[in-house]
Amino acid sequence: MQLTYKAVSAAEAVKAIKSGDHVHLSSVASVPQVLVSAMCDRGRAGELKDVHIHHLHTEGAAAYAEPEFEGVFQHDAFFVGGNTRKSVQAGYADYIPVLLSETQKLYRSGILKCNVAMVQVCPPDEHGYVSLGTSVDATLAAIETSDYTIAVINKNVPRALGDAMIPLSMIDIFVEDNTPLEPAHFSTPDETEIAIGKHCAELIEDGACLQMGIGAIPNAVLACLGNHKNLGVHTEMFADGVLELVEKGVINGASKEIDRGKLVATFLMGSQHVYDFVNNNPQVLMQDVGYTNDPFVISQLSKMTAINTALQIDITGQVCADSIGTKHYSGVGGQVDFIYGSSRSKGGKPIIAMPSVTKKGLSKISPTLTLGAGVVTSRNHMHWFVTEHGAVNLYGKTLQERAKLITSVADPSVREELEKAAFERFGSHYRFVCK
Ligand code: COA
Repeated sequence: MQLTYKAVSAAEAVKAIKSGDHVHLSSVASVPQVLVSAMCDRGRAGELKDVHIHHLHTEGAAAYAEPEFEGVFQHDAFFVGGNTRKSVQAGYADYIPVLLSETQKLYRSGILKCNVAMVQVCPPDEHGYVSLGTSVDATLAAIETSDYTIAVINKNVPRALGDAMIPLSMIDIFVEDNTPLEPAHFSTPDETEIAIGKHCAELIEDGACLQMGIGAIPNAVLACLGNHKNLGVHTEMFADGVLELVEKGVINGASKEIDRGKLVATFLMGSQHVYDFVNNNPQVLMQDVGYTNDPFVISQLSKMTAINTALQIDITGQVCADSIGTKHYSGVGGQVDFIYGSSRSKGGKPIIAMPSVTKKGLSKISPTLTLGAGVVTSRNHMHWFVTEHGAVNLYGKTLQERAKLITSVADPSVREELEKAAFERFGSHYRFVCK
């Protein structure tokens, strides 16, 4: 059993990368920036070409996706974050459309090579185990299938339990660096988001199991759940909003049919409080994304309530969440995994919740999706749709009934236009639906 390691410099470690290689980076808050910058130095020195970089969304610098590295690094992400969006929209970097649950499968099936996995882990324990901390997701699969794994031993990586724990023997090259993890930047929910939060909270029953992402709407929903009982968490990620509910005993996982009592996630993005909370915490399981996001695992939890947001919806319930017209914005992430998984759950509630207009006042509800918009959640998968104007359930409803329901929660200034578009689309029979 390996109990110790010998560290080398970052510059030495990244010599493992060869031209043409595929490199995976651990995700979100836990990018090994010291290795990324050493890799970029090699790129600038003309030592590398055609190196493919893969990861979920990452926070912090992502110089490898910039035009200066064209032909040196090719960024092919599983999810596009704010740090690479411009490069993707300009065509210098690219996106691989894939369900989050299946990102690990791309590696494990050999469809995508991983020559070098670059990750961060916490220092080893007395048994020679380290933790992947806040990024298990596809990172574990990348490590399993890579030719070389380079790990930064970082005391700021929390010792998260579950699949996150791996033996030192899975790592080939060690580097030491204690850069803090990227903290999440929260916006306080505004009036609209609070109204959406309240509508969603009304749909959440005692004993429900929750999935929701980061951002103002999840925070607004969580803020309304103080009087709920026996809630659980099975999600791809959680942030600060859940901590208060765990402390109050509202989230206790007591009703979960699997992983009873545990909060289950695959990556984390929050403030330092979240990273401290998961450190050595047996209440939290950080699991492989092939488990957390598998719709058939999700469906084993009763009253699974999944709340996700979107960029645009048409009057039949087609949901765009990854692009603004042809401009690629983000990715499917775990939205479809959880919307479908929760629809199969006993008493489950799949919810798409979003403001009816953008911050600039543009309606997010349209007669048709903008040309080029990517359908993420199809109308066949849609159940609950929530805006600040209310909650409507589209499941089992006809196209014409959906048009009426969706219009009823649109911004009042566009309702007439949406109704007119429905008449043009469905003919005068639509008047019977509108009665
Ligand atoms: N037409 C034109 N522009 C629009 C628009 C529309 N219908 N809807 C939003 N926008 C613009 C906004 O004005 C904003 O522009 P800005 O950056 O210039 O201010 C931008 O698009 C982002 O919109 P916003 O509502 O702030 O998005 P968000 O940060 O809340 O993210 C998603 C929303 C849908 C992009 C994001 O949740 C996502 O990628 N989801 C898919 C993955 C997923 O759901 N995973 C599971 C949960 S972790």
